[in-house]
Amino acid sequence: MKDKVQVHLKTYTVEDTQQFGKLLGAWVKQNGDPLCIALVGDLGTGKTHLSQGIAKGFGVTEEITSPTFAIMNTYDVNRTHLYHFDVYRLEDISELENIGFYEYTEDCVSIVEWADKFPHELPDETLWIYLTRIDDTSRSITLVSDYLTADDLVEIGGPYVVGN
Ligand SMILES: Nc1ncnc2c1ncn2[C@@H]1O[C@H](COP(=O)(O)OP(=O)(O)OP(=O)(O)O)[C@@H](O)[C@H]1O
Ligand SMILES: [Mg+2]
Repeated sequence: MKDKVQVHLKTYTVEDTQQFGKLLGAWVKQNGDPLCIALVGDLGTGKTHLSQGIAKGFGVTEEITSPTFAIMNTYDVNRTHLYHFDVYRLEDISELENIGFYEYTEDCVSIVEWADKFPHELPDETLWIYLTRIDDTSRSITLVSDYLTADDLVEIGGPYVVGN
């Protein structure tokens, strides 16, 4: 395990959050390595809007909807896949096994909303993203990883990094 690094971002509008997501999605696509993007934040903090930006940046052209009821949505981009989970309604690990959670998060590119419900079930290759509401239109976003480097996180956050 590498050192744990973190970088703070701030967005002032929902469009900022989606644009940050696009930067992240494009970075992941270009990078080509597996990554699990673990989203943590209260109801309505922007996890799904961020996911929409990530998917767009990754190259998804179809409409990206919340997987709250489906639990998992799959998007195909050329010959690669993006797995988008919302585990809010799941209660225990056997349910993760039943939906194939491990097959779709190990060695894959995935997004997991409410990842803090199952913090120990995510792969080593995880980027944690914590969203907090500041006011109606602003969000504090913290990137945390012991897999990516601080330089990676600053590159991904681009203009949204606090201080940039
Ligand atoms: N800066 C911002 N970033 C993200 N969303 C914002 C921002 N400002 C306002 N919003 C609003 O906050 C809401 C976020 O909703 P979203 O469904 O993305 O949240 P969520 O975290 O996925 O919620 P849930 O846990 O219920 O699935 C939207 O109504 C969006 O317009
Ligand atoms: Mg959501």
